[in-house]
Amino acid sequence: MRPEKTTALCVDIQNLEYAWTNGERALSVRHFTIQQGERLFLQGPSGSGKSTLLGVIAGVFAPTSGEATVLGNPFHAMPAAARDRVRADAMGVVFQQFNLVPYLNLVENVLLPCRFSRRRAERVGPSESARINKAQELLSRLGLDDEAQANRPAAELSVGQQQRVAAARALIGSPSLIIADEPTSALDAETRDTFIETLLSEARNAAVLFVSHDASLSRHFDRLVAMENINFTQDQHVLSIPEDALSPAEA
Ligand SMILES: Nc1ncnc2c1ncn2[C@@H]1O[C@H](COP(=O)(O)OP(=O)(O)OP(=O)(O)O)[C@@H](O)[C@H]1O
Ligand SMILES: [Mg+2]
Repeated sequence: MRPEKTTALCVDIQNLEYAWTNGERALSVRHFTIQQGERLFLQGPSGSGKSTLLGVIAGVFAPTSGEATVLGNPFHAMPAAARDRVRADAMGVVFQQFNLVPYLNLVENVLLPCRFSRRRAERVGPSESARINKAQELLSRLGLDDEAQANRPAAELSVGQQQRVAAARALIGSPSLIIADEPTSALDAETRDTFIETLLSEARNAAVLFVSHDASLSRHFDRLVAMENINFTQDQHVLSIPEDALSPAEA
C-alpha cells in the first residue's frame, strides 16, 4: 500500500487566484494555512468567497493560478480525478447545499464515502454491518435516532435534519480534514450547540474548517479568520486594470 503523504500543514495556500469562467475574480489569497488538527472558524459577508475557497480546498475547483497544497497534495498540479480521490479518502465535506442523494435513506447517505473509498470503508469497520452500526451511531449522536425516520429517503427530511445527515456523512471514516459550509443555518440554538460539540468531538484529530455567519459559534474554535483579512480581490482588481483600458488622460 502507498504510504500516506505527510506534511506539517494540513492546508497551505500561496498566491492563490480563482476566477470564474465569466472572468469574475472570486479569490486572491496571498497566504493562508491551516495546521494539522487545528479548528478554524471562517467568517465573512455573503459573496466574499467563503464557499469558493472551501471548494478549492476540497479540490472541487482548481486554482486559476498559485498553489493550494492540501494534506500534502499539490492540488494546483493535479487533475480533477486525483483531487476527487484525495477528497474521498481523507476529507469530510458538508457543502452549503448538503448534496444528499434524495432517494437514499439516512444510513445509505452517511455511508456514501465508503462506497467511493475502500480505505475509508476499512477505517469505519471490517464489515458492512459494522459500518451500518457506525453510521447509526453517528446519526444518533446528532439527534437522528428515530428508527422510523432512518428508512425514509433524504428528500423527506427537514432542512435541519438534512444538515445533520450531511455532517454524519462528513465524519464517517476518520477524515483528516473536515470542511463544513454553514452547517448549522437551519438548526435551533440547542440543536446547534449539540451539533458543534458532536462534530468537534467526533472529528478527533482532524483539522476542521468551519464557515458560519453566526459569530457566537467561534468560541468553539482555536482560531477565527475573517475573509476580508485574507482575500484581496478588490485590491487586485484595481491593480490589474491593463494600461490600455485607461483613457489617454489617465494613462
Ligand atoms: N458558479 C458560479 N459562477 C460564477 N460566479 C459565482 C459562482 N458561484 C459563486 N460565484 C460568485 O463568486 C463570489 C463568491 O461567492 P461565494 O459563494 O464563494 O460567497 P460566500 O462568501 O460563500 O457567500 P454566502 O455567505 O452567501 O454563502 C460571488 O460574487 C458569487 O456571485
Ligand atoms: Mg457560501
